[in-house]
Amino acid sequence: MADLRNTFAGITSPNPFWLASAPPTDKAYNIHRAFEAGWGGVVWKTLGEDGPPIVNVNGPRYGALLTPDRRLLGFNNIELITDRPLQLNLDEIRAVKRSWPERAVVVSLMVPCTESAWKAILPRVEDTGCDGIELNFGCPHGMSERGMGAAVGQVPEYIQMVTAWCKQYSKLPVIVKLTPNITDIRQPARAAKAGGADAVSLINTITSIMGVDPATLTMSPSTGGKGSHGGYCGPAVKPIALNMVAQIGRDPATAGLPISGIGGVGSWRDALDYIALGAGNVQVCTAAMVYGFKIVQEMIDGLSDYMDSMGFATTADFQGRALPTVTEWQHLNLNAVSKAVIDPDKCIECGRCHIACEDTSHQAITAVKDGVRHFEVQDEECVGCNLCVTVCPVPECITMRPLAPGEVDARTGQTVLATAADWTTHPNNPMRQSQPA
Ligand SMILES: Cc1cc2nc3c(=O)[nH]c(=O)nc-3n(C[C@H](O)[C@H](O)[C@H](O)COP(=O)(O)O)c2cc1C
Ligand code: SF4
Ligand code: SF4
Repeated sequence: MADLRNTFAGITSPNPFWLASAPPTDKAYNIHRAFEAGWGGVVWKTLGEDGPPIVNVNGPRYGALLTPDRRLLGFNNIELITDRPLQLNLDEIRAVKRSWPERAVVVSLMVPCTESAWKAILPRVEDTGCDGIELNFGCPHGMSERGMGAAVGQVPEYIQMVTAWCKQYSKLPVIVKLTPNITDIRQPARAAKAGGADAVSLINTITSIMGVDPATLTMSPSTGGKGSHGGYCGPAVKPIALNMVAQIGRDPATAGLPISGIGGVGSWRDALDYIALGAGNVQVCTAAMVYGFKIVQEMIDGLSDYMDSMGFATTADFQGRALPTVTEWQHLNLNAVSKAVIDPDKCIECGRCHIACEDTSHQAITAVKDGVRHFEVQDEECVGCNLCVTVCPVPECITMRPLAPGEVDARTGQTVLATAADWTTHPNNPMRQSQPA
């Protein structure tokens, strides 16, 4: 039986599934129920400095991108940090940690970018007995206009400075939560490390507008006739987050820096992607908001079953294992050739692959053979692009077959070589390096 116990930046939890800082973690009531459901840890909804409470809009703060059958693909929000009094949150954090000593309780923080503001809040947070702090340098709406959140996360010098203050005024592990609204995610990660961060977490939400109401030509959703950009998350952002996690994981400057993977995690499969690309644990927001706390059971059981089937005793056995398979385009093997293959027993003859290949790819799939409807790949035209696999509604109906060395590619007439060769040495590359002797 796989052991899911997890240690992240020195913080232990019974499994690698944490709830991200957001509505699911904004009060003790939620967190007790989340822990009863099995979550390994939580990052408390971001706390701000003491003072007048945060004010949210009194209209729609959420929007969604849905499939035609109303499954959620992407989620947008304009919610700010906690609008509950600081002391109330601190008292609840203390009580929750006391009730659940073996679960991870991390507190998310966002205060103005001054040393005095951080110096004032850190001891009060540490006094709750929580396990660590997460610095919210990612919120892209509302707070960023006040010089916090993404406004800090977009300036590496500020990240380094604030992280260093937190290390100076607190003994707690410091996790720096990064904004994806930046060109090169490695820069803020490097700054966090330079400031002494114990870990980074990513991603926070992506700046977004969901659309326009066609009847009123008003931005949608809107409050009082106007809307503002929000933060995008949910399944749609996972590929963007995975790329950023892998970029940090591959960067020699941040080698060994623990990464908490966030963005579109809704199942154990999503968690596997993050961990195999280097994350030490994962955090979940949207999936818990849409499907409830009990989804963690599928995550725990699914990951555990997978690990048993692969002979992995702990997540460390496969953490980062996929990273060496990530490279730049110029290093891909241009000698490798694949062809699409349609399984006639599975094909329902819908014609989608034919249309896709015919209209936008390489006219490689027949629609008719001997006068009857029939879908078959013509190897002499197929470039192996994978578009047909993507559009086919039947799982495993179209698969990609790698040609073995020695086979002849019917399209080019060339024999597939066993040796790899990439763009850096390709004869068509004017900048090519000379072949090794
Ligand atoms: C309604 C809502 C409120 C959020 N509030 C916070 C917050 O207070 N602090 C924070 O660091 N992130 C906040 N987030 C971002 C999430 O913690 C998370 O980084 C993001 O949603 C991506 O994860 P997901 O795809 O699982 O939702 C919020 C997200 C949503 C949807
Ligand atoms: S892999 Fe691309 S080129 Fe080949 S049949 Fe499919 S869509 Fe056409
Ligand atoms: S898309 Fe799939 S099911 Fe439809 S015709 Fe092509 S192979 Fe058959």
